[in-house]
Amino acid sequence: MTTIGDAALENRENIPLQKGRKSATFCSCSEDYLSGSKFINVAFGTLTVIITAALLLQIYYGDYQVVPHGSVATDSLECSKIGTQILKKGGNSVDAAIASVFCLAVVTPHLTSLDGEGQLLVYNHRARLIPDVIEFNVGNNDAEHLLPRLVLGLAFVHQQYGTVPWKELVQPAAELARRGFLIPKMLVQAIKQAKAEDLYGRLEPGQMLQLENLSNTLAQIANIPEKELYSFVKPENQPRYSPALKLTFNAYDIYVPDRPSLGPALLTYLKQLESFNFTKTDTTRTEYIYRLAETAQNLYNDLNLTSKYHTGTSTNVAVMDLNDNYVSFTTGLYALFGTGEMTTGGYTLDVHPKATPCSRLPVIITDAQAICGRRLLLGANDLSTASQLVMSLLVAQENITNAVEAPRFHILDNGGVGIESAHSPAFTDDVLKYLETLTTSPVLVPEPYMSSNIVEKVKDELNSHSDSRGGGIASRF
Ligand SMILES: *[C@@H]1O[C@H](CO)[C@@H](O)[C@H](O)[C@H]1NC(C)=O
Ligand SMILES: *[C@@H]1O[C@H](CO)[C@@H](O)[C@H](O)[C@H]1NC(C)=O
Ligand SMILES: *[C@@H]1O[C@H](CO)[C@@H](O)[C@H](O)[C@H]1NC(C)=O
Ligand SMILES: *[C@@H]1O[C@H](CO)[C@@H](O)[C@H](O)[C@H]1NC(C)=O
Repeated sequence: MTTIGDAALENRENIPLQKGRKSATFCSCSEDYLSGSKFINVAFGTLTVIITAALLLQIYYGDYQVVPHGSVATDSLECSKIGTQILKKGGNSVDAAIASVFCLAVVTPHLTSLDGEGQLLVYNHRARLIPDVIEFNVGNNDAEHLLPRLVLGLAFVHQQYGTVPWKELVQPAAELARRGFLIPKMLVQAIKQAKAEDLYGRLEPGQMLQLENLSNTLAQIANIPEKELYSFVKPENQPRYSPALKLTFNAYDIYVPDRPSLGPALLTYLKQLESFNFTKTDTTRTEYIYRLAETAQNLYNDLNLTSKYHTGTSTNVAVMDLNDNYVSFTTGLYALFGTGEMTTGGYTLDVHPKATPCSRLPVIITDAQAICGRRLLLGANDLSTASQLVMSLLVAQENITNAVEAPRFHILDNGGVGIESAHSPAFTDDVLKYLETLTTSPVLVPEPYMSSNIVEKVKDELNSHSDSRGGGIASRF
């Protein structure tokens, strides 16, 4: 009998999975399941029992790592791992996402905080119902400010879907804040960009940062009994709960949150792009990016999007678990470090109330025909990022790494076009020359850039990629 230690059970995204003997598969990808009948649920119920048995056998007989069971992609390897640890314990995707988001509030305080916003899509690929959307972004702090907004939102999400005790989801972040973590390069860039040197003192990438007060706050939050925790969620501060919007685009179903998010505008834009009939070959032409940018700029004008939405910060968590529960979660602040005001609890406050909602949004994509076709979870900071990813993945048929790492343009809050000057690879000179002919010349945007992390499943095979813009690494086991 083989004993399998943690190292064998866990894979970081940048370590290729071993292709070994074929072992049990976790989504029985028979196209017979295509019709949406009750049979599916029964079949999967039975399958779950078989899978559990198969899994136990595998734990005893090895070869466990051939088919990964779940994956978490975030802006931090530590936060991705905290997520997969929860999956390993038997937690579902929502449990893992909660733990990872708490971790991000520690490790990427420039992007999100305990007072941050959140939007998530929750979907089960076996039931294949329209995903649920939960949003806590405009307002909804509890009246007495006993719980900051992100915590209140996560408490609600836990009440709806959680299976792992709340305490176990918050504790890893509390411990990390106490133990300290390697200062991410992007945090240092953000401090410089936001002139926020007073918040954490002088930081250098690679040094350790310990956040004592934040750790104490997280420990207190972890210790709130669940019943009491849920009682903070009241009708007047309850996150919005609604079904997702769907667009069938290029034979894929694309799910996004409805109004007041930017979701409907994204779907309108994609419909416009669909009418161009772009082929894979077209996407390699010099004028392609120009067409995307021009169409986006016109849409922003037509729908007045620059006055209706604001580009805040964005960090996303994508999780797939063993039972094909998918969670796409975006969180962020109105600006880097929110208001820049540090509480004694060790986290910064976000801007309240907001004049306009932020543009970030979670996206889920599934093959509209084949149940075992490509399934993708991602998050985007704005409409431009989301649409360029969708086009790259579904029209150019790029793999997730190439799609995420491709250069991106953005429609800025003043309606102009922004180019990420410091990201590599960059647009070619020919593409840039074309972009110069837009009504407004593109401007170069300094770092940090907002990331988009992806988890993908094709048949039973999981892939994940964390965007180099965010500095994270995805984890799977
Ligand atoms: C795209 O294809 C549709 C249907 O074939 C056609 O009606 C339309 O004119 C095409 N659009 C362009 C821009 O070629
Ligand atoms: C666009 O926004 C501006 C400023 O908020 C407003 O004055 C104008 O009426 C809006 N236009 C449309 C078409 O909604
Ligand atoms: C940390 O917490 C202590 C106790 O609440 C408080 O006195 C101190 O000012 C806090 N530190 C910061 C930097 O806010
Ligand atoms: C994506 O494609 C590139 C080549 O275009 C290849 O080098 C890379 O390994 C691929 N990545 C994945 C995750 O398949």
